[in-house]
Amino acid sequence: MSQEDREAGPLAQFLAEDHRRLDALLQSALVQPTRVNREVYDQFRAGLLRHIGMEEKILFPAVQRWRGGDPLPITAKLRLDHGALATLLMPTPTPAILATIRRLLMDHNVLEEGPGGVYDLCDRLAGSDAESLLKALRAAPSVAVMPHSDSPAVMTILRRVLERAGYRMDTDMGTDVPVTPAQES
Ligand SMILES: [Fe+2]
Ligand SMILES: [Fe+2]
Repeated sequence: MSQEDREAGPLAQFLAEDHRRLDALLQSALVQPTRVNREVYDQFRAGLLRHIGMEEKILFPAVQRWRGGDPLPITAKLRLDHGALATLLMPTPTPAILATIRRLLMDHNVLEEGPGGVYDLCDRLAGSDAESLLKALRAAPSVAVMPHSDSPAVMTILRRVLERAGYRMDTDMGTDVPVTPAQES
């Protein structure tokens, strides 16, 4: 059986399912190319913050523990992405911001879900801890969601964290412009 054919373990399945749920919310938040459905976006925003919390506070520390205290190198990049995503959730959502979140998540989720990705590794390292870890993930608390801020300071931080994660801020970020499908490459 090839690596791709192997069925995902329980941790990978649970977390990848959360990715799918968030993807669907993000997609339906963009009702028209120029309009964001704020109610759906709020659900997405709270859900993504909780998901990031599950990984940073529960999953990554567990992986580090199973590796005898040695952090998995890829988690440094994943944490940079999380920082960029959390900052993208700060300003008032515009189609340009949603498109950037989507692009980032597409790259990011592959690193986590793919064969040999961090989720796969978790299932292989967890052993008898798998069940208690899954329980902890399910019980993860929701994260306090701050009011949106469009201050110049937030935009400066956003530019910096995106660059650090390997992305560039679109010039139209922060303005209400239609999203072009070409951004999904
Ligand atoms: Fe992540
Ligand atoms: Fe994730």
